[in-house]
Amino acid sequence: MARITASVYTSHVPAIGAALDHGRTHEPYWQKVFSGYEFSRHWMRENPPDVIFLVYNDHANAFSLEIIPTFAIGTAAEFAVADEGWGPRPVPKVIGHPELAAHIAQSVIQQDFDLTIVNRMEVDHGLTVPLSLMCGQPAAWPCAVIPFAVNVVQYPVPSGRRCFNLGKAIRKAVGSYDEPLKVQVWGTGGMSHQLQGPRAGLINREWDNAFLDELIADPERLSGRPHIDYVREAGSEGIELVMWLIARGAMNDSEPGGKPPHVQHRFYHVPASNTAVGHLILENR
Ligand code: DHB
Ligand code: FE
Repeated sequence: MARITASVYTSHVPAIGAALDHGRTHEPYWQKVFSGYEFSRHWMRENPPDVIFLVYNDHANAFSLEIIPTFAIGTAAEFAVADEGWGPRPVPKVIGHPELAAHIAQSVIQQDFDLTIVNRMEVDHGLTVPLSLMCGQPAAWPCAVIPFAVNVVQYPVPSGRRCFNLGKAIRKAVGSYDEPLKVQVWGTGGMSHQLQGPRAGLINREWDNAFLDELIADPERLSGRPHIDYVREAGSEGIELVMWLIARGAMNDSEPGGKPPHVQHRFYHVPASNTAVGHLILENR
């Protein structure tokens, strides 16, 4: 059977991708950001998954106000890199896993979550920047990736509780796939940031670190936090953090009797662009 080995959480700031693509990672400003991922790239090489189930949000590149799926699973064989205004990032195309993705869609929809099935989709910085941070600059990404896009851009957005429970359903789905695949679930976006309006540039270190603490120790409780708290405390784009609860719900301890995960790595840094950067690696025991 397939199994979830670990979950990874990281911000997906586009300027981080640009710093990598333009060879600026050794500048002092960026060195401080990338230093938090040195361990992670090593860990990825030591613990290679077969598939990454990558939870992220599209930033009006694949979708627009014409169609707004709350949860969209990428079932295609491959996904092209989106042009976000300066040409597509010079990173490899994303190779999907149509069989596992179709199985997860079947299982999760039968567990009463209404997913949108997407057979053609371009992927933006929300997905490619985490891959770059965790894998560096390879000629091809080291494993298959199933993109899972969550609407946190246009209200109404899904609640933390719904995201956490969806993670549990994804864990069951993966665990019932009849092939011994190692699967990681990633949650991306955040941490505190607001890109617009009078509060642009808002950073809340205390709130961010309390979020990390609670995500590790008591995600069930964290999942009860209403979306307005994210917006008030972490800024209008801080709501991206609800996606981390999907990855956390997919860990063993979200079911009774499951062991709490091992915290392999934790990192927090301000600033990257206008944003706080947070990162966690949790391993199932
Ligand atoms: C920025 C954009 C994002 O999507 C994000 O999650 C963080 C920062 C930005 O434009 O700086
Ligand atoms: Fe974002």
